[in-house]
Amino acid sequence: MENIEDDENDIKKYNELKSLPTTLAEILPSTDLNIRLCSDYLLKGNIVGMPTETVYGLAANAFDLKACEKIFEYKNRPFNDPLIVHVCSIEMAHSITNLNSQDEKIFGILSKKFWPGPLTIILPANLNKISKKILANGDTVGIRFPIHPIAKKLIEYSNVPIAAPSANKFCHISPVNPYHVFFDFKEYPIKILNGKKSEFSMESTVIKIEIKNDSKKIKIFRMGAIGKEDIEKVLKENNVFDFEVEALVKKINLNQNEIKELTENNSNEKNDITINQEAPGQFLKHYSPKLNAYIYSGNDIKEYVKEIKLNSSILFIDYNKILYNQFININNIKEENFIDLSKDGNPEECMKNFYDYLHKAEEIKNKDIIIFCDLEKFMKENQHKLTLLDRMWKAASFKKCIIKEN
Ligand code: TXA
Ligand code: MG
Repeated sequence: MENIEDDENDIKKYNELKSLPTTLAEILPSTDLNIRLCSDYLLKGNIVGMPTETVYGLAANAFDLKACEKIFEYKNRPFNDPLIVHVCSIEMAHSITNLNSQDEKIFGILSKKFWPGPLTIILPANLNKISKKILANGDTVGIRFPIHPIAKKLIEYSNVPIAAPSANKFCHISPVNPYHVFFDFKEYPIKILNGKKSEFSMESTVIKIEIKNDSKKIKIFRMGAIGKEDIEKVLKENNVFDFEVEALVKKINLNQNEIKELTENNSNEKNDITINQEAPGQFLKHYSPKLNAYIYSGNDIKEYVKEIKLNSSILFIDYNKILYNQFININNIKEENFIDLSKDGNPEECMKNFYDYLHKAEEIKNKDIIIFCDLEKFMKENQHKLTLLDRMWKAASFKKCIIKEN
């Protein structure tokens, strides 16, 4: 596990905010004693900020409906967006699911390869154990077995499955350190375990095994830390050739009026657009920073775009120095106007930096517009590209811009 030190700016802001009378949340060092304390706290119906290798989770006892309802309340999350449940053993996963023999085989292969780790598998739920209310009234449950030692201990000590969505306000940026959790939930009585920066800093990949008549599929509901090729490879290694792996994540085709409306109002209103009907909780605007964000792919664009004057209030979220090379030293644009997801174009590094940089972008003074280098155009093909595109599109709500010098 990487052990990156806490960011000084985060610590400074935390120290300022933690003594406010309205602040109820607190960050605890992850000593064994504190993990036990958080486990007791959770078992009494309270909420814990849980570090994982992907992003931090807002954790409650999955068997305690009242506690799980607090998660929806604190996050402002609609009940049609189901929670995933975290386990610390395959037996625990079995205890809350009802698998048939066909599910069992593929589940066995995938869990053996990817668990513990950043893969969430949607399975038929044991509804005697898990309330439908946290499953968006459906009969499946997304299960994840995290590898992060603190998450594992918290589940082991609690000895119950733990429901945990990402620990951010609904539609805000996913948290990759304990301070991000604190800043979104400081007015709520939660105890946050400090597990430093999350290793992947990108959510788990969410998949569903679907067997219908003669069609056998693994559907990827949400692209994440594990790529499509990783899943295809393990199927092949296990001589499974009759399953197709299908990514449901795709670019949605908004019409020109919709793009115009979003661009002009920088609006959040299209958030009720579900990106695909099969995957609940996949909304258009998600993972968004509080700043106006646009995507730049060049000035030769036909669709509706915002025209932005090149000026020092822009923060470029660059890739492979592409925008840097184009705009540095023009109209007073300096080094400080750029952060680069990966200066040498490494997709894994881009994933690790993506949410962290969006959080940093919100904190940088005198910057009020984010412009992403269009990864769709400028990133080479690789299995993480679709994950990154998904997050970039959602962070900018698909809005594009052109840039005018002078
Ligand atoms: O990496 C992660 O998965 C993190 C950490 C904390 O484990 N958790 C996380 O949870 O990202 P959340 O709720 O923010 O995202 C889970 C996604 C949501 O889009 C939800 O709609 C979808 O998974 N999901 C959960 N249960 C589902 C189900 N039964 N069927 C379809 N989609 C489901
Ligand atoms: Mg989330």
